[in-house]
Amino acid sequence: MRELLLCPPDHYGIEYEINPWMSRARGADTPLVKAQWKGLFDALSKLDTKVHLIPGKERLPDMVFTANAGLTVGRRFIPSNFRHQERAGEAPLFAKWMEEHGYEIVWLPENLYFEGEGDALFGGDALFCGYKFRTDINSHRAVADLLGCLVISVELVDPRFYHIDTCFCPLPDGGAMWFPAAFDEYGQRAIRDRLQNLIDVPEEEAAGFCCNAVVLDRDIVLPDGAKTVIRQLSDRGYTCHPLPMSEFLKAGGACKCLTMHMPQRERAC
Ligand code: ARG
Repeated sequence: MRELLLCPPDHYGIEYEINPWMSRARGADTPLVKAQWKGLFDALSKLDTKVHLIPGKERLPDMVFTANAGLTVGRRFIPSNFRHQERAGEAPLFAKWMEEHGYEIVWLPENLYFEGEGDALFGGDALFCGYKFRTDINSHRAVADLLGCLVISVELVDPRFYHIDTCFCPLPDGGAMWFPAAFDEYGQRAIRDRLQNLIDVPEEEAAGFCCNAVVLDRDIVLPDGAKTVIRQLSDRGYTCHPLPMSEFLKAGGACKCLTMHMPQRERAC
């Protein structure tokens, strides 16, 4: 059974601005936050998964975005080194929790920014890693050495899509859905060279974070509002579970950001 890590939104809020979606003037509606997060929890729980919960902490409002806890491969957990001080306090909490749950914690050198699964997604036989806004490209080399796997580094060029999981979602049939314009030309080529059957997402749907999806075999849990993408995914035999995510979009996150796989893969390659 697949295992996932979520963090209840008890301390969630828009308390600072570290990406273009966040505005302290546009706070989150607490009852809606709770209902939307519960909707995600319920949807994932029904899909033959074990959902673990880490408690949140006051003054760490983005801790709900567990994709940024780190990257888990087999029983090894590589914690994030957050770029922004605002989130740095989350790292020891996630590492402690993972250690208590039996994972081996492997820290990267602390001068290398790395934001976990938010910037590192396996697709086909490679680990696709985004860099620039949050994660440093130098951390990719460290992750590749550690895991002994092929890492494809791709530059992110649009600040709205500051983590790779906001604009790229590998699919189990070897393809991916993605918003090409979030990558530079070289990155686009690298992705096209390695993955066939890509689904190009139109800008309006990408801006609704449809790529920020949790893929569980043939089931895909994604933010609602992505009509054309859902049609294409359904044509390929996937079952889509669209969910309202408005309150998390205000922080620049949605379904995938709120979820970390434990592990994302059993083996790196
Ligand atoms: N407000 C959070 C931040 O800017 C959102 C994180 C979204 N996480 C993700 N994996 N894309 O860091």
